[in-house]
Amino acid sequence: MKIHILTLFPEMFAGPFSCSILKRAVDEGAAEIRIHNLRDWAAGRHRITDDSPFGGGVGMVLKPEPVYRAVEELRENTGCRVILFSPQGKVFRQETAQELAREKGLILICGRYEGVDERIRALADRQVSIGDYVLTGGEIPAMVVVDAVVRLLPGVLGGGEAATTDDSFAAGLLEGPHYTKPRSFRGLSVPEVLLAGNHAAVRRWRRKESLRCTLRSRPELLLVAPLGREDLELLAEIEKEEGPRPAFVSAAE
Ligand code: ADE
Repeated sequence: MKIHILTLFPEMFAGPFSCSILKRAVDEGAAEIRIHNLRDWAAGRHRITDDSPFGGGVGMVLKPEPVYRAVEELRENTGCRVILFSPQGKVFRQETAQELAREKGLILICGRYEGVDERIRALADRQVSIGDYVLTGGEIPAMVVVDAVVRLLPGVLGGGEAATTDDSFAAGLLEGPHYTKPRSFRGLSVPEVLLAGNHAAVRRWRRKESLRCTLRSRPELLLVAPLGREDLELLAEIEKEEGPRPAFVSAAE
């Protein structure tokens, strides 16, 4: 997958793509990530990319012309989907990452300043927010999206598709706990079931802990997660162990 990132601060991207899994994905050719400085498409000697808002107000607004020129040039060459980062966009979810991972290429536009000229929105196939808070720009959202998408590309994580099927959110639930050596650490022991080698018991325990974790931290996910008969039994066991679950979860069953 080819990913173009349009930003006024290319230097912000030096770190995240140059280590660990993302670096390997790039080195091995699963992803090609190109960071472009929007200023390269700005006109005039001063290469101005922002201006004051019509109608008055504080802050500066990203001008449309350099963004249009950049996207038109890159899109013509690649046929990529265009994404604009903005707090007004749809909230990014694991499902969004899965959809984007199927694209041939992406052009990611990082907004800055107080906002972007409204006409830039017309360029975008989607507007994406990474959550209900306001950041200083779209650079960190771009890093978040690239990380979430690239790890889903074929061959990036060892273990094939199975490596991501148990991810939190992939099946509508949070992932449960993991343990490694030592068996006992500061008085905290690894659950016996994980040491006994009974695969069916381990699978059931993992499902139960995934349900428990979801119930504790994100009970609203249980309202829409595809739950089977075993899940309802496990939730009943958890309820016995921990007391009643929130009324709205029981009501949805
Ligand atoms: N730009 C500023 N805040 C943002 C957010 N929460 N998501 C995406 N882009 C943003």
